[in-house]
Amino acid sequence: MSRNFQSRSTGLCFLFVLLFISCNQKDAIPSLKTGLIAEIAMVVSAREEASIIGLSMLEKGGNAFDAMIATEMALAVAFPFAGNLGGGGFMVFRHKDGSFGSIDYREKAPQAAHRDMYLDENGEVIPNLSTTGALAVGVPGTIAGIFAVHEKFGTLPIEEILEPVIALAQKGVVVTKNQEGRLASNRNSFIAVNGKDTFFSQEFSEGDTIKYPALANTLKRIAANSRDEFYKGETAKSIAKFIQEKGGIITLEDLEAYEAVWRDPIKFDYKGNQIISMAPPSSGGVTLAQIFGMLEDFDLQEMGHNSPEYIQVLTEAERRAYADRNYFLGDPDFVEVPIQELISKSYLQSRMSNFNPQKATLSSDIREGNLQILESDETTHYSIVDQFGNAVAVTTTLNGAYGSKLYSEELGFFFNNEMDDFSSKTGIPNMFGLIGAEANAISPGKRMLSSMTPTLVEKNGTLKMVVGTPGGSTIITSVLQTILNVVEFGMSMQEAVDAPRFHHQWLPDHINFEPEGFSHDVFEALKEKGYQINEGYTPILGKVDAILVLPDGRLEGGADWRGDDKAVGF
Ligand code: GLY
Repeated sequence: MSRNFQSRSTGLCFLFVLLFISCNQKDAIPSLKTGLIAEIAMVVSAREEASIIGLSMLEKGGNAFDAMIATEMALAVAFPFAGNLGGGGFMVFRHKDGSFGSIDYREKAPQAAHRDMYLDENGEVIPNLSTTGALAVGVPGTIAGIFAVHEKFGTLPIEEILEPVIALAQKGVVVTKNQEGRLASNRNSFIAVNGKDTFFSQEFSEGDTIKYPALANTLKRIAANSRDEFYKGETAKSIAKFIQEKGGIITLEDLEAYEAVWRDPIKFDYKGNQIISMAPPSSGGVTLAQIFGMLEDFDLQEMGHNSPEYIQVLTEAERRAYADRNYFLGDPDFVEVPIQELISKSYLQSRMSNFNPQKATLSSDIREGNLQILESDETTHYSIVDQFGNAVAVTTTLNGAYGSKLYSEELGFFFNNEMDDFSSKTGIPNMFGLIGAEANAISPGKRMLSSMTPTLVEKNGTLKMVVGTPGGSTIITSVLQTILNVVEFGMSMQEAVDAPRFHHQWLPDHINFEPEGFSHDVFEALKEKGYQINEGYTPILGKVDAILVLPDGRLEGGADWRGDDKAVGF
């Protein structure tokens, strides 16, 4: 044996030992495919332009909250599909001092809204009224949200934060292949709602640059006149006039009355990991806590990732949690939400007590009634960690693709159709199949129930993960699986994001699987136990943008391949 070969084989043995050790240490630096690794700071969002603008705030000495404001506004320019001034969202944060918090800048029902506003004289739901056009719009919360964040935690002047965003709107954004498809498939709706001369009646192709001069002017006025510009000033007057001219009911008083709210997040433990997520009016944190709580007594590693047994136990926990979600959850400023009871260990153990590993539970046996949820999946999430130790997870939305499709030529942005996230009529589905309960009925000034789940994970008192995704009702199960992929199966952040996902939401009583991510054998094993597989069109589930803190303190980004998402860092 030559010396050369001997030293090579000794080296290989050493490498195998290292790999073996690292595979057996759950917290080891992932040895397989990783996303971008950065030393101290990172932004991951749905568009490279927005991630870069967010990071530029950190590069000039700003913190994660400055970067949040910049990223949020940059997404309104670069990703108008879901990024917004005319919508709302939630941010969960971990401050560098170790404290947690969250802000709710969800839209609200206008004062003239009432529980039957989408019903005809016979009490039947009028198709499309809650989804398309001016009557679908809830009072927007995003600008109030970013200014509340700035007031509490911002370090850079707002003009400085908005300056690159305004420059991007003026210079324009290059259309990607994905964006070309989204604009084309919504073009007829843009014209139907706004008329044939609307800005987005133009046909855009991959590689075109779209400039947003009207939006740049709106942002300039906001930079100069602050939050009041949007809620009391020239912009507010323009919004109220425009929406009313188009048949909506939002008034200047509704805008003036809007406030973002700081709320305590939901916190719970899963096998030594502290998970922190959004409280109502999002259903995300409570439902996530319920599912994790029901899973905790099972050995998921032993079952194997995405094995039939694993899919089965997740499905059964999801089925039970979503049934509770529909019945109990709504805006906590209007309805009593029994959060502690819903997430208590004894309750969750009792919920799983009728789980039978040999046989599917029927959703009709879980609760009475035939409630069903399905929300739109056009939302966006971004994750940020800064060089000071602050972390933010933010999910923001217009609800549907480009919201209500209502677009103000003068102001340069789309308005949400978030009113559709209320239950228009108990027991009757909306256009996404959503059937809501009393807790989520429409009421003036009330926030509609959401599934957005911006989430942080901490272990042993230090930050471990920042995670979230769009995906409507599938948000919660995508966040769940991404966290499990890391904490149970030792995946890198990018692998955890890349892994194929599945989803069950109580009703309809079937499991959705991402295309080509699961074998025929897995489906057969589940069918034998009585599970129904949705074998029709199965869309991608979520677009997770996440950051993992590695054991050595560096950051790994997970930017979802399912979109144009991008991690940047230093
Ligand atoms: N509009 C989607 C959500 O809030 O969950």
